[in-house]
Amino acid sequence: MASEFKLAPSILSADFANLQLALSQCDEGGAHWIHVDVMDNQFVPNLSIGPPVVKSLRPNTNKFLDIHMMIIEPEKLVKPFARAGADLITFHIEATDDPQSVIDLIKSTGIQVGISLKPSTPLSDIEPYYDQVDLILVMSVEPGFAGQGYIKRSTERIQEIKKKLTHQCLQDRVLIEIDGGIKLHNAKEVIDAGADVLVAGSAVFGTDDPAQTIKDFYNLGSTAEH
Ligand code: DX5
Ligand code: ZN
Repeated sequence: MASEFKLAPSILSADFANLQLALSQCDEGGAHWIHVDVMDNQFVPNLSIGPPVVKSLRPNTNKFLDIHMMIIEPEKLVKPFARAGADLITFHIEATDDPQSVIDLIKSTGIQVGISLKPSTPLSDIEPYYDQVDLILVMSVEPGFAGQGYIKRSTERIQEIKKKLTHQCLQDRVLIEIDGGIKLHNAKEVIDAGADVLVAGSAVFGTDDPAQTIKDFYNLGSTAEH
């Protein structure tokens, strides 16, 4: 098992009245990234965070801000999120008729670009863009809510993407992120399958001691190495 994975706690499961606490817990636990779920109540049936919140987070953390846009017309919010301090913006392939222009737009702001797909969207829809993105976000639940169960076949999707990336010699350049239903008990499975970044919302912020839980994730990586 590779021990070099990044944990990206999703603040969707944190207390929105005290995001500073969530940032401190991520610091204390040693999380690499902060995952920010952006929902518009159109692409998904939920409404969450916009650029002003990211702007407020930015001066309070030096962690990598990983923005997951679950919105229609993603091109309209790329610049506002980039200006607010995003380090990477991921958009959904299902949310646009012109993925190439969204990729180009995100790149033009100087930050990294990710592409994502829902559990039922064929991988072939995103394959043409593998050599143009920094990250592929595999949804392992239906986007919209934290706290859902991991969709088991996502593990094979990670393996399939890793295989294709390796075939194109892109495996060290393009990260695979897995998002939805990740817990301590299935983290090893997705890392072994090839995931480089693990998003965890309820598994981190739903516990009494989120900082310790983050450490538990990383300990899992180092102790499981054989
Ligand atoms: C779901 C979001 C996820 C969510 C993960 O649409 O994209 O990032 O916050 O939450 P858990 O880890 O609880 O499934
Ligand atoms: Zn997410």
